[in-house]
Amino acid sequence: MKKQKSILAFSGGLDTSVVVKYMQEIHDMDVITVTVDVGQGDNQNKIAKKAKKLGVKKHYNIDAKKEFVTNFIYPAIQANALYQKKYCLATALARPLIAHKVLEIARKEKVSSLAHGCSGKGNDQVRFDNTLRAGSNLPIIAPIRDLNLDRETELKFAKKHGIEIDNVAKKFSIDQNLWGRAIEGGVLENPFNEPPSSAFIWIKTKNLPAKPAYLKIKFVKGIPVEVDGKKLDPVKLIEYINKKAGANGVGIIDHIEDRVVGIKSREVYETPAAICLIEAHSDLEKMVHTKHETKFKSIVDDEWSWLVYSGLWDDPLKDDLDKFIEQTQKRVTGTVKLKLFKGSVRVVGRESRYSLYSHSIATYGKKSTFDQKLAKGFVELWGLQTTEANKFK
Ligand code: ARG
Repeated sequence: MKKQKSILAFSGGLDTSVVVKYMQEIHDMDVITVTVDVGQGDNQNKIAKKAKKLGVKKHYNIDAKKEFVTNFIYPAIQANALYQKKYCLATALARPLIAHKVLEIARKEKVSSLAHGCSGKGNDQVRFDNTLRAGSNLPIIAPIRDLNLDRETELKFAKKHGIEIDNVAKKFSIDQNLWGRAIEGGVLENPFNEPPSSAFIWIKTKNLPAKPAYLKIKFVKGIPVEVDGKKLDPVKLIEYINKKAGANGVGIIDHIEDRVVGIKSREVYETPAAICLIEAHSDLEKMVHTKHETKFKSIVDDEWSWLVYSGLWDDPLKDDLDKFIEQTQKRVTGTVKLKLFKGSVRVVGRESRYSLYSHSIATYGKKSTFDQKLAKGFVELWGLQTTEANKFK
């Protein structure tokens, strides 16, 4: 009898390698692996070799870096997307893209099930399951979750089956792409432990430059198009900022995060480009948006971030919010200057042809066109009800 075919989103790491072997041996299936390159920085040939060594039927490698930036990172910048005010959603943004690619190949290969290597404790299972289900009704196999596997058991299983695991993977659980690098596990599981400098590879933590560096970012309709006077293609632009900000110690996030499944976790990230771009973008928005737009959009931004974090990329509400956000970006064109110095980042200048800032209105100088006398009546009416209510105190 012909074996059943399943397709697996494969990173080449511990979890997905264990899953390949498990599906072959316990489920007696043929496994097709798909690796989607979203800027993990991994050697794709090495991953392909690893897949072959594990005995997969076929391996696909898809370079989706550009698509990741234009269809996932750009919307995140426009939404100033920071889950719980801190996390730039690097992993969360990549999962729906990977799932979409898996579905494309699943249709072509006519597989009978879809598989992933997520545990039952994280957010990635929510993102994969829901995005896969939005596009297919094939069953989903998640062996790590189904078997309640822990890291030690996996490492033992890997050893027994001759699966190679690199050294960093032994110390921490890492997930990285162009938008950020998530570092979990090991000594970081005690939230009081300061992350050792060995946890960081993008960001310099010692011997930082003695002089500040500047980043000049030009946005057109909320999209970064030029940095330091250079027009860069989408992927290069993100890489450039990651490198420059990282060299100045900028981009480390360390916070307590609420996972979708209810677990509180300690998360450490390296996200230099995301921090700089979101800081710059939201500053520019404040220059060109009315106070009403600014206030309302922050609610939408928060909801957008939550939907993406919690695996609902394909929910119709996200489409609706996308339309709103796109509409708000019409005037988000201009340049922002950031100062990077010994781990800190600060906006130190901004300009836009759509600026609502008016020097003649704002100045305290002689040439002011703002009639102060008008303020008296306005202030009195503004506080009218507060004044009345306080009479009952
Ligand atoms: N907490 C982040 C998130 O849920 C990062 C997760 C990192 N994922 C991983 N498989 N190590 O998006």
